[in-house]
Amino acid sequence: MSGRVPVAVMISGRGSNMAALIEACADPAFPAEIVLVLSNREDAKGLETAAAAGIPTKVIDYRGKGSREAFEDAAIEALEEAGAEYVCLAGFMRLLSGHFVERWRDRLINIHPSLLPAFPGLNTHERALQSGVKITGCTVHFVRAEMDSGPIIAQAAVPVSDRDTAEALAARVLKLEHQIYPAALSLVTSGKARVAGERVILDEDTSELKPLAVPPMDG
Ligand code: GRF
Repeated sequence: MSGRVPVAVMISGRGSNMAALIEACADPAFPAEIVLVLSNREDAKGLETAAAAGIPTKVIDYRGKGSREAFEDAAIEALEEAGAEYVCLAGFMRLLSGHFVERWRDRLINIHPSLLPAFPGLNTHERALQSGVKITGCTVHFVRAEMDSGPIIAQAAVPVSDRDTAEALAARVLKLEHQIYPAALSLVTSGKARVAGERVILDEDTSELKPLAVPPMDG
């Protein structure tokens, strides 16, 4: 074995954040490796990307499982079987119950396309534009049972222009998502980020976040 921390990724669709994590983990110096990509949808595009990278994939279709708990038990079994120590949600579009979230407490990570606690839930970019905020961004956080909440590991920001559309904003934020998620996973799996109370305390040596310290103005 490589001695790296085994991580699973859960997706429902496109999987571009998953692809960014796969790319980061392709570097043998990265502290984590991806042992499973789990999807709740058979038609998730990301499954092809993962398989092409040689990563084991599994589909557990929620709709065929009767209850949320049955789906979550099957997911927990698959994640344990794969030996995952951490689970990254990457565009996983199902709400997970407290049962699942507590099983992975402080080892379940999500990315959300806003500067939480602003704009939890769907349609974040539309809502950001409507509200007139001048800065928005993305957040990587440990997951708690309440939707899009939990200790924040990393954030990155972009300026919002008056001429922005939701699509343009989404594309600009997504570029940052692809940087911040691997950076956050590196911090967590190398032990440089730890939960204290409901905050994440970072080590002083967090070189992973240096490229994110100043918001890029390339939009
Ligand atoms: C991303 O914007 C992510 O922040 C949100 O859902 C989207 C998933 O995109 N949770 P992808 O599947 O990673 O391309």
